[in-house]
Amino acid sequence: MLQFRGEIPQDNRELRHAVYDGAVYLASPCAGSLKLVRKAQDAIRSVLDVKEIRRAHLELDEDTFFTRIGALRRMIYLEEEFHNILSDILEENGFDPDCTAFDPLRLRVVCPDGHLNKKAAPVYFPHRDTWYAHPQSLIVYWTPLDDLGEDETFAIYPDYFQQNVPNNSEVFNYDEWVKDGPDLKIGWQKEDSGLTAVYPRSAEGFDPGQDVGFSCPAAGQLFIAGAHYHATRPQNTGKIRFSLDARLVHLEDAASGTGAPNVDNRSSGDILKDYIRA
Ligand SMILES: [Fe+2]
Repeated sequence: MLQFRGEIPQDNRELRHAVYDGAVYLASPCAGSLKLVRKAQDAIRSVLDVKEIRRAHLELDEDTFFTRIGALRRMIYLEEEFHNILSDILEENGFDPDCTAFDPLRLRVVCPDGHLNKKAAPVYFPHRDTWYAHPQSLIVYWTPLDDLGEDETFAIYPDYFQQNVPNNSEVFNYDEWVKDGPDLKIGWQKEDSGLTAVYPRSAEGFDPGQDVGFSCPAAGQLFIAGAHYHATRPQNTGKIRFSLDARLVHLEDAASGTGAPNVDNRSSGDILKDYIRA
């Protein structure tokens, strides 16, 4: 049974260990997440330069849309201003900056009927984030830019938190992935990477069992184990779904091998060396 918890505990150790055991924290917005969402919306408005950002796909041709979203993703992932806001958010939620490191914020852009576009196929592959060479202590932070209903967020498959999912995670080597620079990691830089790059995924047609969804207000905060098996939900609401997520690790937990159980992750490479200290 998947447990959602609403209150961020005072003791950060309690949060981390509950997450490693499969619990999911779904907390109210905090000052930092509200600031992050405002900043991200400002950046999206200025770069997309359209009347309504959630309908930008209707105003821009595919190439222009793709190029501008790529520029935005790069900015939000790389800019120090966004790193600092993320550090503040983590501290506000009880993470000790001295022992926390993160893989920065990624902007996710899920277009209405985006699942019908073959180039976007990897976005919807059910997966564990740990299959991308993250340690088992990986905690994922996720926050949406708008109020989202259950059918617009993502699906969590709790039956497989502690059970093997047939998958090809052994194809993923982090050092190989970034050998030509961070573009593949940031995503959306090379238009055809959805067709050509190798993404770890579960066996086609695999039945993920129980599917748990959740709704979330704008700037609401989700903390979930990177080892949870999950998938982005396709949507056809007519509006783009924008969200942000980042990956974080408690360095002592990573060093001591503390974290969620590893039942099937065979990815390799040293991603922690590229994490940023909070
Ligand atoms: Fe994911």
